[in-house]
Amino acid sequence: MVRLGIVGIGNMGSAHAGWMPQIKNVELRAICDIDESKMDRYPDVPHYKDSAVMIRSGQIDAVLVATPHYGHTTIGIDALQNGLHLLVEKPVSVHKADCQRLIQAYDQAGKGRVFGAMFNQRTDPHYQAIRRVVQSGELGEIQRTNWIITDWFRTETYYSSGGWRATWAGEGGGVLLNQCPHNLDLFQWICGMPSRVRAFCGFGKYHNIEVEDEVTAFLEYPNGATGVFVTTTGEAPGTNRLEIVGDRGKIVYENGQVVFTRTESSVTEVKNTSQESFATVPTWRCEIPVNGYGGQHQAILQNFIDAIESGKPLLAPAVEGINSVELANAMILSSLIGETVDLPLDAAAYEAKLKSLIANSTHAKQTVTVESVDMGASFGR
Ligand SMILES: NC(=O)c1ccc[n+]([C@@H]2O[C@H](COP(=O)([O-])OP(=O)(O)OC[C@H]3O[C@@H](n4cnc5c(N)ncnc54)[C@H](O)[C@@H]3O)[C@@H](O)[C@H]2O)c1
Repeated sequence: MVRLGIVGIGNMGSAHAGWMPQIKNVELRAICDIDESKMDRYPDVPHYKDSAVMIRSGQIDAVLVATPHYGHTTIGIDALQNGLHLLVEKPVSVHKADCQRLIQAYDQAGKGRVFGAMFNQRTDPHYQAIRRVVQSGELGEIQRTNWIITDWFRTETYYSSGGWRATWAGEGGGVLLNQCPHNLDLFQWICGMPSRVRAFCGFGKYHNIEVEDEVTAFLEYPNGATGVFVTTTGEAPGTNRLEIVGDRGKIVYENGQVVFTRTESSVTEVKNTSQESFATVPTWRCEIPVNGYGGQHQAILQNFIDAIESGKPLLAPAVEGINSVELANAMILSSLIGETVDLPLDAAAYEAKLKSLIANSTHAKQTVTVESVDMGASFGR
């Protein structure tokens, strides 16, 4: 039986707490929030106001961190350094240098520790099916990727709902750091990492915020393939359309359906060998049957517990979370400097840029909760 503690009992932390009865081999033994009123709903579980005290209580084996973003790094490092298993909400950290610090703490903690990330969309069978088609080689070498993920509509009320939201100091970014970690993680999980990024962000384009709420990014992959990633929280109804083109056809996910339009032969071969000027490449339309959207958060929770209990492989190892953070950072940086950014990203340079954004911010909110607790440790390490 794994004894779990949750840090951050807000929207997501309380949802995780509510799912506990459905998760096998886990017992919720502690909860922690700097706002004690958030814990009133759980009179039977010991309360902690300070995560450091909970982590050292001897009452828990594992921690789930569901605080605002900067706390993922600082509280996560504290948990790992004190021998606990760690499940961290997305994004794994705000910026690449913090991810590296967190991963270093995991490496030093020893391989007996389990370090997972709440990338619940990895449990969605649609994305799993697309990944299988790409990874099996059935799609052929990737030529072009395109993800329009604009169904993340959010209101001004949403952005006002927490002092930490939508500021550089509190959240560390906008749509790329809050909504899109899922998509950026899936994008790299399915297609791999690009080697160059040029992006155009709208900062506070649709909302009274300082961070990005619209992004159009152009990606270049190591094999010469190109990609486009488009997102926003400012339009409705929005679109979720993922299209990946390879040498053996194209796979499209939209409206809950995955369609693989498969070519009879290699497109490159037809291009190079056909005697016709206007040849077509015959195709089959294959609808990939998929039911439901997977176990989502509960499945990731169970997988984390199973990894601790019986060594089951993690579906979403947190060390892989650095990739989505790096993509988000690169898109923001590219837009700010007006240039293409090469990957791997210079982590220190991005951290310095973020620091200057925080220093020059005119959007500081009165109720920012993480600054004194997290920012010093996060940037000072
Ligand atoms: N996986 C998902 O589908 C999903 C969905 C929503 C949010 N999230 C993530 O969950 C995290 C929390 O988001 P939320 O919407 O629940 O935010 P929230 O503001 O509702 O909750 C955050 C809670 O953390 C508490 N807190 C802040 N600093 C703390 C500290 N140092 N120690 C203890 N508690 C602290 C706050 O008092 C608050 O109760 C974010 O990382 C967010 O990106 C994930």
